[in-house]
Amino acid sequence: MRSIQRYFLNTRTFLTRLSGVPGVIFLPLMLLCFPLTAPAGDAAGAATFKAKCAMCHGADGAGKTPMGAKLNIPDLLSPEVQKKPDSALIEIIAKGKNKMPEFASKLTPEQITQLKDYIREIGKKH
Ligand code: HEC
Repeated sequence: MRSIQRYFLNTRTFLTRLSGVPGVIFLPLMLLCFPLTAPAGDAAGAATFKAKCAMCHGADGAGKTPMGAKLNIPDLLSPEVQKKPDSALIEIIAKGKNKMPEFASKLTPEQITQLKDYIREIGKKH
């Protein structure tokens, strides 16, 4: 009997120690990794923008391209675009609007979110 009690007691202290250790190790690790993942998303958004959007919207997003002038493309850095909610930007990129092509069939939802973040980012720098 005694040995069983001791066994359970030992397992309990063992388990509490065990659950404490990952917490101590992983929490700082997660905090460390978080700032590293954000710029990775930004870089992916910038690369996709350059590949799929810059020919119309310009490398800087201002739409000052021959195509921009022809299609009357809005300046993505302007307050009119920046004040739109995230959901509106995501919807326009995914579904398209007038001459703006849809990208839901060409890009993943994650890439579209990264593009939305990228548009926010260049809007802030402006
Ligand atoms: C063929 C040229 C073309 C390409 C390529 C293109 N766009 Fe557009 N985009 C347009 C046009 C034209 C509009 C204006 C649509 C309207 O309001 O009539 C527009 C509008 C937008 C808007 C909405 C601006 C507003 O007024 O709210 C966003 C956001 C946007 N584009 C993002 C993107 C992103 C991100 C990509 C790349 C994945 C992209 N566009 C690729 C032509 C293009």
